[in-house]
Amino acid sequence: MKITVVGTGYVGLVSGVCFSEFGFNVTCVDNNEQKIKNLQNKQLPIYEEGLEKLLIKNMQAGRLSFTSDLAESVKEADIVFIAVGTPAKNDGSADLSYVYAAVDQLASTINRDAVLVIKSTVPVGTTRAVKNHLHEKGVDISVAFNPEFLREGAAVDDFMSPDRVILGVENKKAKDMLRAVYRPLYAFNTPIVFTGLETAELSKYASNAFLAVKIGFINEIADLCEVCGADVKEVAIAMGLDKRIGDKFLQAGPGYGGSCFPKDTLALSFFAKKFGANMTIVDKTVESNNFRRKKMIKKIFDACDNNIKGKKISIFGVTFKANTDDMRESPSIEIVNALINAGADISIYDPSFSEQAKTIFKSANWSNDVYDNCNNADAIVIITDWPEFRAVNLSEIRKRVKYPLIIDLRNLYKVSEVEAHGFKYCSVGRAYKK
Ligand code: UDX
Repeated sequence: MKITVVGTGYVGLVSGVCFSEFGFNVTCVDNNEQKIKNLQNKQLPIYEEGLEKLLIKNMQAGRLSFTSDLAESVKEADIVFIAVGTPAKNDGSADLSYVYAAVDQLASTINRDAVLVIKSTVPVGTTRAVKNHLHEKGVDISVAFNPEFLREGAAVDDFMSPDRVILGVENKKAKDMLRAVYRPLYAFNTPIVFTGLETAELSKYASNAFLAVKIGFINEIADLCEVCGADVKEVAIAMGLDKRIGDKFLQAGPGYGGSCFPKDTLALSFFAKKFGANMTIVDKTVESNNFRRKKMIKKIFDACDNNIKGKKISIFGVTFKANTDDMRESPSIEIVNALINAGADISIYDPSFSEQAKTIFKSANWSNDVYDNCNNADAIVIITDWPEFRAVNLSEIRKRVKYPLIIDLRNLYKVSEVEAHGFKYCSVGRAYKK
């Protein structure tokens, strides 16, 4: 089986490499020639645990190659995956220009017996619209929709051992072809769910939006905990033991970020309205999540008695989540900029040493070590839940700070443990003794 994957971002590159690890012959395509040259030299544009090893192994096995010639790359392909970006436009709708650009470039040369599979997250009806668009060009091929559920920082694992594979198909040919592509996962009894095209497209948005709603919910419960004396971590445990709720995605924090939840919630709400259905819960979740950044800023200012100007504030982590260097929609952007604008002297340590972050916070100082980052700090603010922050030596940090105040937006520590080290400890959804 010959597979072509269009797009070498988080989804396309991980999918292409993993399909080659399944044993298929894979060509990954991108219109960014420099990116392709780097990949041919085994230089990856993203860091994902385990990805580089698999890429090198499968290139050496001759199963994985890279090209910027899309038209050529689809001639022999039995199946073509489109995994290009669908970013949010200003009105919240999904930008499908990259999807259609790829479709138009492959239309004249795609193998007529191939199956064209959209893997990008696209509004309901897009896959069928692409089929009609190709038909108008005189190209009649089978189409399908196969959403990805890859989390940044765990993408290879999520691909190799998914909770489920959703395959939106329109005919037996596409069904048989996709069943063959995912056959290697049968070894792990992975549920393979076949649906119609629209069901598969909506299942992706519904899944992401629900996860966003779950996070928004626990964040608002955290706000209530702070005024009624409850502990949000304990509430989350009590809730999560109910199998109908589940214990995942119940960690209160500064609000969700990333390249998916923010854009997918907006896109779902937008296209639902076009169909005449209102996603009021999703709309409120978006509003609550956006406002949460301001709540976190107020929390920090209050903990510093609104005395920010000239203060040295040590930031622990700025990426949107741990195990990635991605800054897209990170809560830190609004939070840290508010502190900079209030005259704080900002020092940042982020284990990813994200280059994106250095371009965003130009006036900040950068440390290479969590302890150096604390020297003479008037306050420490934890924004990203990097595992290494959980194990820091609080005694060492206590020695280095000028004033013992930790504002932890990720609830990394036990309140009693931090206070026992002489810190004032302000966190999310738990008691704070000023
Ligand atoms: C998400 C979905 O999980 C994945 O299935 C989909 O394919 C792409 O979007 P990702 O955006 O990489 O993946 O990160 P995820 O781990 O889902 O976290 C998203 C945001 O929610 C992050 O900002 C994270 O910090 C936040 N989060 C997550 C919480 O605030 N609390 C939680 O309990 C979990």
